[in-house]
Amino acid sequence: MRRPGFRLARRRAGRAVRALHPLKIADAVRRGFAFRRAMDEFERLPDAAEAPEELLARLVHGWGNELMSAMPGYLDASLKELRAARGDVLECGSGLSTILLGVLAGRTGKRIWSLEHDGRWARRMRAEIRRRDIRGVEIVHAPLRDYGAFSWYDPPLERLPARFSLVLCDGPPGDTPGGRYGMLPAMRGRLGGGCVILLDDLHRPAEREIAARWARELGGTCEVRGTGKPHAVIVAP
Ligand SMILES: C[S@@+](CC[C@H](N)C(=O)[O-])C[C@H]1O[C@@H](n2cnc3c(N)ncnc32)[C@H](O)[C@@H]1O
Repeated sequence: MRRPGFRLARRRAGRAVRALHPLKIADAVRRGFAFRRAMDEFERLPDAAEAPEELLARLVHGWGNELMSAMPGYLDASLKELRAARGDVLECGSGLSTILLGVLAGRTGKRIWSLEHDGRWARRMRAEIRRRDIRGVEIVHAPLRDYGAFSWYDPPLERLPARFSLVLCDGPPGDTPGGRYGMLPAMRGRLGGGCVILLDDLHRPAEREIAARWARELGGTCEVRGTGKPHAVIVAP
């Protein structure tokens, strides 16, 4: 009988071989080129929060991770909320959003603290940010931890700011026990008055429930915006 380690190695080798398929390589090269061009355009905009939807769509396509990355509507809302934010920003789940927000934050002297549970993805994101010389972001590796009633990131609280004025929630992944709910109990003491929370993926019943629960527990307001893949905007009192 074959050991589980052997099966895993075979599956990984299979994935690596499939990734080397010439059509896949050509697609990755095309997307990489499209992403660099779209990023150049984005960085040239006088106000990154006014990026046209068509440019955001090209950035999403070029980033090449449509199943996981934020969509243009959420990216646009995040950029506009970042422009309006008065203080530090917490992001849960890094990716394309982190890069775009980092460009705007770097220009406006704001800072984004992006929690990432996956160590490999955190390293890749840090490399991407260094390569593009993006100044406004700190990728914080925070593995998931069991809090009892839910699991959520285990952030190094001593390294994080005392107050956040904006929280962008696009992680942890949906199969985490309790989903994204843990943000409120784990970070409540760090949310300033009037703090704005954006929660992505409101097409999912779990996220709709979490948005309503956060608003109830905070005594704040909750508004659902966007169509297709909407997001919630929750405002603390
Ligand atoms: C919904 S994604 C966050 C997406 C991010 N806000 C963006 O705009 O790209 C949540 C998590 O999925 C993981 N993830 C995203 N893209 C990934 C990829 N291409 N490979 C592996 N993990 C990925 C990361 O751990 C991330 O924190």
